Amino acid sequence: MARSGRRRRHQDRFGRQARREGYAARSVYKLQEIDEKVGLLRRGARVLDLGAFPGSWTSYAAERVQREGRVLGYDLTAFRGELPPNAEIRQGDVFELSVEELGGPASFEVVMSDMAPATSGHRFTDMARSEALFLRALELACRVLTPGGAFVGKVFQGGDFPKVREAVRRRFTSVRVVRPEATRRESYEVFVCGTGFAPADEEE
Ligand SMILES: C[S@@+](CC[C@H](N)C(=O)[O-])C[C@H]1O[C@@H](n2cnc3c(N)ncnc32)[C@H](O)[C@@H]1O
Repeated sequence: MARSGRRRRHQDRFGRQARREGYAARSVYKLQEIDEKVGLLRRGARVLDLGAFPGSWTSYAAERVQREGRVLGYDLTAFRGELPPNAEIRQGDVFELSVEELGGPASFEVVMSDMAPATSGHRFTDMARSEALFLRALELACRVLTPGGAFVGKVFQGGDFPKVREAVRRRFTSVRVVRPEATRRESYEVFVCGTGFAPADEEE
């Protein structure tokens, strides 16, 4: 068997595991690894999940924050599946979402984004689109997070990656870049995680 075939088979254990454990997508194990490494999700937390369809991150987060917490997801695609009672996914484009719709400043302890653009096949186009989604998620996070809150965002790693990481570093006391085991080998994606959100001064 070709090497890439063996790798894919090895990685597809995440797909099998997701089916067994009742999650909608194998990407749930990316969030699980990030959560374990960064200490992202705590009981009682309010979580905003951007790019939430088909719902595996939303379901996982809802379980982790327990009944005392809640998870609000948004996606371009309408969601019609089942979720735990403390979770909801609404249809919407992150570029059109307002802070008021999200509940205003200091409405969430965690903002996470697994958003990805529809891929064009052109690496640089896809990277630029992924970066725009990442920066939009970060912008919203900076407007709705509570002080000390956490952010995690997916981005395709490329030329402007240092700029993206620096944008997170400016507003969070600690920054980590995680490439989870469940990420496919051929993928350029990484997750930039910021903890200890520091709101900007009024005049900034
Ligand atoms: C990899 S999937 C998310 C998977 C999800 N985290 C899960 O585990 O079930 C990426 C999602 O980003 C969404 N997306 C892309 N651009 C978006 C935008 N502008 N606004 C909202 N969602 C967007 C896509 O519709 C897609 O469903």
